[in-house]
Amino acid sequence: MSVATVEPKNGQQTAISAPLWYRSLRSLLFRMDPEEAHTLAIKLAPLAAGLAGGPFEDDCLATSVAGIKFANPVGLAAGFDKNGRLTGCLASFGFGFAEVGSITGQSSAGNPKPRLFRLVEDEAVINRLGLNGEGADVVARRLAAANFSLPVAVNIAKTNHPSIKGEKGIADMLHSFECIKDLPLAFITLNASCPNTHEGIMQETEELDQILAGVQKLNSRNLPVLLKLSPDSTPELLETFVASACKYGIKGYVLGNTTTTRGGLSTKAESVQSMGNGGLSGRPLKAKALDLVKRVYQIKQHDQDIIGCGGIASGFDAYEFIASGARAVELYTGLIYGGPDLPLRINRELSSILKKNKQTIATAIGTAGKSA
Ligand SMILES: Cc1cc2nc3c(=O)[nH]c(=O)nc-3n(C[C@H](O)[C@H](O)[C@H](O)COP(=O)(O)O)c2cc1C
Repeated sequence: MSVATVEPKNGQQTAISAPLWYRSLRSLLFRMDPEEAHTLAIKLAPLAAGLAGGPFEDDCLATSVAGIKFANPVGLAAGFDKNGRLTGCLASFGFGFAEVGSITGQSSAGNPKPRLFRLVEDEAVINRLGLNGEGADVVARRLAAANFSLPVAVNIAKTNHPSIKGEKGIADMLHSFECIKDLPLAFITLNASCPNTHEGIMQETEELDQILAGVQKLNSRNLPVLLKLSPDSTPELLETFVASACKYGIKGYVLGNTTTTRGGLSTKAESVQSMGNGGLSGRPLKAKALDLVKRVYQIKQHDQDIIGCGGIASGFDAYEFIASGARAVELYTGLIYGGPDLPLRINRELSSILKKNKQTIATAIGTAGKSA
């Protein structure tokens, strides 16, 4: 079935839909500092969960990643629930799974503020939070005491400090892995693609190899391990990283992280420039993320799975990623513009697209460009 059968009528990217109640709330939230608005969202989420319309299940939306079953394919991307405070309530918003983190070996305040910026015209954000978080030990203890409402994954990154590099950086990631390896997690993601660190995205295959070898050694319960890659990776880097991933039994890829590029934005150039460095996410990232999925789908091992991520904010977006090779999707920035019931709406839209096409997730994966 060709993707064209479900394309929005005008062929244009449509604005992210949001219900009237959220549009009113959003105009208040957008008067707040973006990071304060996020802190408020984390505090309110457990209370709002009682009013939300999830969990969401539908036979045609059932999927699995690395053999782990999800009731639906819409996940929360890393960075929203960095410290694992929301695992008890995320299913109520319609999510099928969630990635907590990135966690780091040591607690960290992250980069100096301000470090999170909205590009409202583009329905995007730029962040250079720099991996702020309470640290792996604290988050692991919180997760051990939690009642998960959905399959939970944890994303591990290296502590962002100039002294933590080389051997120390590898030990830092392995420490985080040790903290969480006995928890009842769906999978673990190794983040090789955060642009907001002293070193930028990981470029060294040797370093990645050492991390993957160390993780493989510690992974006594055989928890599925995925690798999160950058849409800014060169084809050569992608090839070497995928080759390493295959060598060390990595079960799949999260594709992908934010981009440091700034092309094609509607927001005024001076305004974008004044925001400074950081990773861009949201609507303008979608084409790059989709391209990353297509590139990795071509070169990955057949039994490795892909989770698509970047600018997803509608059922059609999710469908495009699935048709390009993803078994599931994740989102973050869409929530800021579309509101907390966006996962439910994406699931409903995706379900109706699949039904119209007489498909399920399983039969839709990788069908882009093929005719019926
Ligand atoms: C404020 C913010 C913080 C983020 N923090 C992390 C992080 O800690 N670890 C990570 O792997 N990705 C992080 N991300 C990237 C997201 O997980 C996701 O890959 C990216 O935002 C693209 O998805 P989106 O367009 O739906 O937001 C962050 C994104 C944002 C906007």
